[in-house]
Amino acid sequence: MESRLLSDSALRRIDREITKYPPDQKRSAVIAALAVAQDEHGWLSAEVMDEVARHLGMATVAVYEVASFYSMFELKPTGRYKLTLCTNLPCALSGATAAAEHLKRKLGIGFGETTGDGKFTLKEGECFGACGDAPVILVNNKRMTSFMNPPQLDQLLDELSAAADRGEGAGKHANYIRGEGPPRAAGSAPSGGSAAREPERPSQGRARAGEAGTSSNPPQAWGDPS
Ligand code: FES
Repeated sequence: MESRLLSDSALRRIDREITKYPPDQKRSAVIAALAVAQDEHGWLSAEVMDEVARHLGMATVAVYEVASFYSMFELKPTGRYKLTLCTNLPCALSGATAAAEHLKRKLGIGFGETTGDGKFTLKEGECFGACGDAPVILVNNKRMTSFMNPPQLDQLLDELSAAADRGEGAGKHANYIRGEGPPRAAGSAPSGGSAAREPERPSQGRARAGEAGTSSNPPQAWGDPS
């Protein structure tokens, strides 16, 4: 019998997404299911994607294809808080470049990197459709923050750092997020082991569908209980 990595709660959320589609089209819920899985684990290991595939009755490669196509899905561990800064031209002309430099200096990392304490991952994003609110940052794909100049950035970092200290943020398997061990089966004790497999992610042509939003119309938390 396969060990489970997704909790009962996560599976219930996925099942709720499945009910939105005809019974013979469960696979249509794959994006929502992956979002639920990422909410729980912080990122999508191959083992977690395998479980999503089994639950949806899909070929595992089809799930990998979806996860590797959309930039909001993470195929390697991230910090508890992923900060995605739009660096496209309209935002760059309205403070995003300075915001990027401020974040890099404060966090001591560059784009695509995670702080040593596992709290923050910094990423570049494409237009969120909120150009008038620049600089804009998307926190963990769900919370849009606007007009993020240095004072606002400092405030956000302080807020999120305190939340991370309380154990909040993406993923419940904090040790795994920091790369200290593999994901655990739901309800099992921590254990050692080798790093999870990471499927290849195509480097070009990723869509940003579903990742954008505005401060007045925030992006929907996929798979969240409604
Ligand atoms: S260019 Fe940054 S939100 Fe549009």
